[in-house]
Amino acid sequence: MIIEKFVLTPFQQNTRVVACADTRRAICIDPGEDSAEIESFLKVNDFELQAITLTHGHFDHIGGTADLHQRFPHAEIFLHKEDEDFYYGLPAQPLFLGIPQNQLKILGFEYETPPKLTRNWADGEIYEVGNLRFKILHCPGHTRGHVVLAEETQKAVFVGDCLFEGSIGRTDLPGGNFQQLMDSINLKILTLGDDFTVYSGHGRETTIGHEKRTNPFLTGLNQISRGKFI
Ligand SMILES: [Fe+2]
Repeated sequence: MIIEKFVLTPFQQNTRVVACADTRRAICIDPGEDSAEIESFLKVNDFELQAITLTHGHFDHIGGTADLHQRFPHAEIFLHKEDEDFYYGLPAQPLFLGIPQNQLKILGFEYETPPKLTRNWADGEIYEVGNLRFKILHCPGHTRGHVVLAEETQKAVFVGDCLFEGSIGRTDLPGGNFQQLMDSINLKILTLGDDFTVYSGHGRETTIGHEKRTNPFLTGLNQISRGKFI
């Protein structure tokens, strides 16, 4: 498995190209903004972009979908149904965060409605990229339709904005729910195994074991106060 990270948008969002080293088939997880760099990386390495795979519908994770799809029109686009409102409502999303209309263009947040989704993710499905097999796990809490992509043989999980090194995703935006997020993390992500590398939507890579030991949201006291010490 080959992973290339592109840090994009003023939010320092991690866009990643993940490719099967044997077959050269690739996906782009969460293209955050328009990027000629992603296209040249794919072309120089002779990767075939088979899909744009979205963890959730926030604008810093989907803002480059239209541009990337224009560069690779055969790439399919996947998102969970519960985040479709965010996706098709992309042009208005920055306004909800309080960014003034007259600042959108300057900040790079002026969007068109993105292209039609190919289909929605189904919880538990296996999505194949060459010899890689990603298990799609619905993990609501940061948004209603957030998913993570877990590749078990490579011990890698792409968690979007569910979990970060030392922190967790915010739950104060529309569709956010703290209890749901904690359940998603505890029941679906942490159970993958301590040796999984965690690829987050912002910040550095970490491991599940490291987060279990050190993340203040996941360590003993916090879990006891929730009545769920695991
Ligand atoms: Fe987000």
